[in-house]
Amino acid sequence: MDGLSEKQNRIMDFPYMGYDALICDGAVRSGKTSIMSLSFLLWAMGNFRDRSFALCGKSVGAVERNIVTPLLSIAYLRQNFDIRYNRGGHMIIVRRGPRENRFYLFGGKDESSYTLIQGITLAGVLFDEVALMPRSFVNQAMARCSVEGSKLWFNCNPDNPLHWFRQEWILKAPERNALHLHFLMDDNPSLSEDKKAQYRSMFSGVFYQRYILGQWVMGEGLIYDMFDQTQNTYREMPAAVKHNAQRFIACDYGTTNPCVFLDVYDDGEHIRVEREYRWDSRKERRQKTDQEYADDFMTFMGDDWCTVLVDPSAASFITALRQRGVYVREADNTVLDGIRRTGALFAQRVLLISEINCMGLIGELGSYMWDDKAAQRGEEKPVKQQDHGPDALRYFVNDLPDWRFEGVQTT
Ligand SMILES: Nc1ncnc2c1ncn2[C@@H]1O[C@H](COP(=O)(O)OP(=O)(O)OP(=O)(O)O)[C@@H](O)[C@H]1O
Ligand SMILES: [Mg+2]
Repeated sequence: MDGLSEKQNRIMDFPYMGYDALICDGAVRSGKTSIMSLSFLLWAMGNFRDRSFALCGKSVGAVERNIVTPLLSIAYLRQNFDIRYNRGGHMIIVRRGPRENRFYLFGGKDESSYTLIQGITLAGVLFDEVALMPRSFVNQAMARCSVEGSKLWFNCNPDNPLHWFRQEWILKAPERNALHLHFLMDDNPSLSEDKKAQYRSMFSGVFYQRYILGQWVMGEGLIYDMFDQTQNTYREMPAAVKHNAQRFIACDYGTTNPCVFLDVYDDGEHIRVEREYRWDSRKERRQKTDQEYADDFMTFMGDDWCTVLVDPSAASFITALRQRGVYVREADNTVLDGIRRTGALFAQRVLLISEINCMGLIGELGSYMWDDKAAQRGEEKPVKQQDHGPDALRYFVNDLPDWRFEGVQTT
C-alpha cells in the first residue's frame, strides 16, 4: 500500500473519534472499500475478542472480490495476524496471540443471508456498496449489533437523491452520530492521471455526475444525451470489417407493440448496428403471429447465421426460432446497468449506428427519456414509449463481456 490520503487517514482514525457510525460515499475507485476494510479489521482486532462481525456486500461473491481477496493480499496483515478464510463457511477467522474474532460474509441480495444474520450477535458491521442492498437487510443486520462499543461502517456510490440510504443516513448523519466522508478519485493516491482519465471516459450523463463527481442526482431529460448524430453514426461498413466481425441479432418482441430486430457487428473495437427490422402492428393495422415473425426473422438473418439475443419474456417467439434451428440466448433485461453501459459505449464512440439503414433506432434514441413522474416517487426508469430499438440495443450490450467495461465495477 502507498501512503494514505488525508481522507483515508480519517477512515483509520474514525474508531477513536467517538462516532457510532462511518459513512463514506462518492466516486468510483476513490479508495473507500479498501481502506475501510483495513481500518475495520484493525479496529475489531484491537478492541474485541471472541466476537463476531459481519462483512456485507451485494452478494457473498462481491464481498469475496471486494473485501476478502484484497485484505488477504496485504503483507502487513499477513505478517501480524493469522488470517484463515473458510470459503465454504463464508467466514474469516483472524487470530493474534490469544485473541480471536470471526468475520462472517453476507450478501444483501442473497436470500439465505437473511435467515443467517437473524440468529447472530455482532460487534460491528461493514456494509460495502450499501445503496445496492435492500433496506430490510441493512436494518436486520443493524439490529444484531448489540455488543457494547459496536460500530456501523457504510460505503457506497451515489444513487438517486431520494434513495433511502441518503434520506435516512447521509442527511441524518449528525443526529445519528455518524461521521460522513465524501470521496473523489483524487482521494485515492494510487490512481495515475491516465487511470483517472480512463475512468472518466467510462461514464457520461447522470452516471458521470454520480460515479465521477460523486453527486446524488436524478436522471432527467434525455437518457442518451451523449449520443452524437455525427460521431455515433456511419454511412458504410467496410467489407473487411463485416467479414472479420462477430455478428449478433438482438430482438425486442411485441405483438400489439412494435417488434424490432437489430443486426449488430462487433469487430472487437467498434460495434456497428448495420440494419434494423421493425413491424408496428398498430401502424400497419395487422398483427403478426410468431410463425410470421420467425419467417421475417429468417429472411432478415439470411444465410450468415449468428447468435441471437431475445427479450426474455418472449417465450413463444424464442420457441419458434429454436424450432428453426436458430441459436437463441435469452437476453439480460437489467435496465439501469444496461443503460449505463450503453451510455458509456456511446460516450467512447465505440457504438456506431448506420445512418442509412437504422433511421428508426436513431429516432428512438433521440426521444428516449427518463420518466420524471416516476422519479418523484424515487423510481428510476425510462418512459415506456418508442423504446423498442433502445431495448433491443440494451439486450445486446448486456451480453457483452466485462472487458468492454474494464475497470468499472458492475453494480
Ligand atoms: N492508499 C492506497 N494505496 C495503494 N492502493 C490504494 C490506496 N487506496 C486505494 N488503493 C487501490 O485503489 C483501488 C480502488 O480502491 P477501492 O476499491 O477502495 O475504491 P472504492 O472507492 O471502493 O471504489 P468503488 O466505488 O469502485 O467500489 C483498489 O485497487 C485499492 O487497492
Ligand atoms: Mg468499493
